[in-house]
Amino acid sequence: MIQEQEHIVTLVINQSIEMGEFGIQEAIQLFELFGLPYQELFKQYFPENQFPKKYEITSQTLPNYPFVDVYLKDLDLIPKVLSRSLMIHDILYTISRANTIEDLNKNVLLQAMQYIENPNLSCKCDIITSFFKITQEKRVELMEQVFGEKGLNCQNTINLTEPDILYYLMITKDQKYIAGYTLSKKKKRREKNFARIYELPNRIYLGPVSLAHDLAFLMANQAQVKENDFVFDPFAGTGSSLVACSHFGAICFGSEIDGYLMKGHCIGYINQKSTYLKDPNYKQVKPYINLNFQQYNLPPPNLIQTDVHLPTFNPRVDEFFDAIICDPPYGIRASIQQDGNEQDLQANRTAIYRRMFEVARRVLRKGGRLVYLYPLFKGMEKKVEKEEGFELVDFREQKMVDKRSRLLVTMEKL
Ligand SMILES: C[S@@+](CC[C@H](N)C(=O)[O-])C[C@H]1O[C@@H](n2cnc3c(N)ncnc32)[C@H](O)[C@@H]1O
Repeated sequence: MIQEQEHIVTLVINQSIEMGEFGIQEAIQLFELFGLPYQELFKQYFPENQFPKKYEITSQTLPNYPFVDVYLKDLDLIPKVLSRSLMIHDILYTISRANTIEDLNKNVLLQAMQYIENPNLSCKCDIITSFFKITQEKRVELMEQVFGEKGLNCQNTINLTEPDILYYLMITKDQKYIAGYTLSKKKKRREKNFARIYELPNRIYLGPVSLAHDLAFLMANQAQVKENDFVFDPFAGTGSSLVACSHFGAICFGSEIDGYLMKGHCIGYINQKSTYLKDPNYKQVKPYINLNFQQYNLPPPNLIQTDVHLPTFNPRVDEFFDAIICDPPYGIRASIQQDGNEQDLQANRTAIYRRMFEVARRVLRKGGRLVYLYPLFKGMEKKVEKEEGFELVDFREQKMVDKRSRLLVTMEKL
């Protein structure tokens, strides 16, 4: 039964092979950021005394994934979550659910009738099913049965391009029917996500390992970056992670060993395909990292050229940053540079991660997040070692080309 004070909404998570299970962890962090702990969000799935850790909640443990039903008291959370989400394709408000179409029509929430019976509103109906294909004829038949004269007798006018309400009928894996309407502003399928303007193919200044825009935003969401947070990327490169954080209003700091990359002298280059080249605001001819902030009208970051192994910060100013977000060099495309020893790749990799934690232990505030990527090579176990002074919040795998993969890891400073 749907309780009066709680609304059932369904998160429709984007499924893509490259993005793996990043959608669940993003939903967890965004609802938490806006005040709803994950134990509340997923309370109907797990018994209180055996509640899993965040990283144990996967597509395998959520029965109807990529549809995830959650109970909300406050629907105002939805626009807030959607304003930052990359992986939640849509959020649907459930008005009825049943095993048969007849019961579905009988169970409809009374408050939904104010929309269904209003001829001044326009609508479009959609059928969502990820688990099996249905023919066009069957779709029309189902829509007629639910929204047509013999069903809910919907009085709205039809508008297929810009409807006021997008109704949906969802058929779940276990052949249950759910009816509702979308709560996102996306009235059309394939509507662009806010982050699309940041895609690398349109980014003005690129380097050999610029971080993809979606991963950068997912990492900023894992760190729950907010306005006026102080965020640091010790391996800033061309600044992708900082661009995402700056979009959320953070004050950004970055260091990078390769000063030439920041100043565009060698491996960094102007992307001739970027539409920013045609923008009247584009004045800079010299390639350099700050162009990536100018392009989106973001304030310039605070940058320093240094080796992460060197002492950079004032020893009296500890626990300064609210978040550290980085993609350390793995030694494949981005070289791991360290004085003296360039030979032993694995040792260098271990040293760079160890150093990242050392820096974070000092300069990250308590409760601040360290979000980083960690490569998994053949034969390596998919796990994250315990790290003194940090609690593991979440980790998920991203599959990459040629069977490589990497983990997106989120730690919290204790
Ligand atoms: C994987 S890339 C990061 C790319 C960056 N996120 C971007 O969007 O361009 C790693 C960066 O770490 C830098 N790096 C390598 N060794 C370093 C060190 N010891 N200290 C600081 N930066 C280092 C590399 O020059 C490279 O730019």
